[in-house]
Amino acid sequence: MHVKSNEPRGSAVCYCLLLTPIVTEVFLVAKLESSNTGILINGQFPGPDIYSVTNNNLIINVHNSLPEPFLISWQNFTYTLQVKDQIGSFFYFPSLAFHKAAGGFGGIRILSRPLIPVPFPDPADDFTVLIGDWYKTNHTKLKAILDRGHRLPFPDGILINGRGPNATTFTLEPGKTYRLRISNVGLQHSLNFRIQGHKMKLVEVEGTHTMQTTYSSLDVHVGQSYSVLVTADQPAQDYYIAVSTRFTTRVLTTTAILHYSNSAKKVSGPIPGGPTTQIDWSLNQARSIRTNLTASGPRPNPQGSYHYGLINISRTIKLESSAAQVNGKQRYAVNSVSFVPADTPLKLADYFKIGGVFRVGSISDHPIGRKMYLDTSVMGADFRAFVEIVFQNHENIVQSWHLDGYSFWVVGMDGGVWTPASRDQYNLRDAVSRCTTQVYPKSWTAIYIALDNVGMWNVRTEFWARQYLGQQFYLRVYSPVESIRDEYPIPKNALLCGRATGKTTRPF
Ligand SMILES: *[C@@H]1O[C@H](CO)[C@@H](O)[C@H](O)[C@H]1NC(C)=O
Ligand SMILES: *[C@@H]1O[C@H](CO)[C@@H](O)[C@H](O)[C@H]1NC(C)=O
Ligand SMILES: *[C@@H]1O[C@H](CO)[C@@H](O)[C@H](O)[C@H]1NC(C)=O
Ligand SMILES: *[C@@H]1O[C@H](CO)[C@@H](O)[C@H](O)[C@H]1NC(C)=O
Ligand SMILES: *[C@@H]1O[C@H](CO)[C@@H](O)[C@H](O)[C@H]1NC(C)=O
Repeated sequence: MHVKSNEPRGSAVCYCLLLTPIVTEVFLVAKLESSNTGILINGQFPGPDIYSVTNNNLIINVHNSLPEPFLISWQNFTYTLQVKDQIGSFFYFPSLAFHKAAGGFGGIRILSRPLIPVPFPDPADDFTVLIGDWYKTNHTKLKAILDRGHRLPFPDGILINGRGPNATTFTLEPGKTYRLRISNVGLQHSLNFRIQGHKMKLVEVEGTHTMQTTYSSLDVHVGQSYSVLVTADQPAQDYYIAVSTRFTTRVLTTTAILHYSNSAKKVSGPIPGGPTTQIDWSLNQARSIRTNLTASGPRPNPQGSYHYGLINISRTIKLESSAAQVNGKQRYAVNSVSFVPADTPLKLADYFKIGGVFRVGSISDHPIGRKMYLDTSVMGADFRAFVEIVFQNHENIVQSWHLDGYSFWVVGMDGGVWTPASRDQYNLRDAVSRCTTQVYPKSWTAIYIALDNVGMWNVRTEFWARQYLGQQFYLRVYSPVESIRDEYPIPKNALLCGRATGKTTRPF
């Protein structure tokens, strides 16, 4: 999500999240008898939805009852942030210590301000649907496997809102239309989502209102979010919602229930099948997802009023992923560098100008063909540059890339190796603006970004074991002006750890 930290101003929405470690039955599958340790938020798995409206200031109090540090907070902490100029569906999750494997995630929805038209009628209800692959093994054990330099095994199943097969029910009244906000909160696998006997009308992708196209199933890559409308226009009974892994030799499938309030019959018949290994199907679907240029976004002007395709590119960054052993341990890299955290948070080191923590330029902006090595990789970029990033995937897996602090236009993707001639096939008119994009096996994906947000932003794979083992870096978007017009001041409650210990933030 494109978040700016800020002092509360205007309307504020306050949340209190209490994290509790509870050994709970989060995996209710008959054949996978074991229970697991889950991270609950306010006693819920998944955690509660965070509701907000564009430009709301959110105050989120986090009380950590886990026996270990959680997220980016090392103790109880209050986050103040503004959902500035944003709408759409996202999710929150813990980013440290492989906690994501234990849950701790929940939906975030940012509604349009009341007077701004939304390009579809108000749905009768709005459901968060968090889907993801899941391990029976707890997160400490999974983390230990990675720490020892091994790869993770294939997951044990898929959860829908934290539950196994048939355990989650969505109730619909006949004739009414519902919004489903589907996010892939899992650790690795792309998932296909479909509903028996029903079509889905795609209306939103990570904050962009899309051309309302109807699909019978939808690929949701790890880290991505989609909103669809579903109308209860079928005979009154229960229907399967099916979610299954994509591009895997063994296909994992799970189900939830779409229940008509006047249902006369339980779910029956075969679970609807979906695509499994077909890459072209997925690529074609991705290309069919377009921005509705006449619909409003967070502001009343149409989404198509900013002509990203007419802006000159000031820089091209090419990123290549790789997997290799370093010092006998499995690691993953971007342009040959496998990220290792520093002793001081990078943003703090930058703010207080503490030398020796990181070096701008410690990762190249193009592949260098070197053997993989470890470093605290930071790439410099100029505030207000308009950048093209090409993700080149030489590997045989689907990747999913996320950039913090920004939305970007996904202008093109195709098989093979990107060349400047690949630009001829870019969509420079109505590509979707989002924050997470897939890169198909032995393929490339190109994005455009307007670097209008000063800061130290994480660029990472959403394939969580790879992120944990170094496939990430920081993009330092820098302005020499150092003005609070371009970047909000340091939060006064910022935790000053590492070499920033003893510094002061600001008095008010
Ligand atoms: C965090 O908050 C909880 C609940 O208010 C309190 O019991 C605990 O002592 C606090 N821990 C720290 C480290 O401040
Ligand atoms: C695009 O948005 C406009 C304006 O809200 C709406 O009337 C139209 O139905 C939308 N078109 C599609 C194809 O989604
Ligand atoms: C994870 O499982 C291991 C053994 O299977 C156990 O020793 C450990 O306490 C568990 N960790 C948590 C956080 O439950
Ligand atoms: C889900 O429910 C259907 C209908 O009752 C049943 O046939 C199926 O076996 C159930 N699936 C699981 C995994 O329990
Ligand atoms: C883009 O670059 C071209 C060629 O250098 C130049 O003619 C044009 O004015 C530039 N367009 C914008 C919008 O800056």
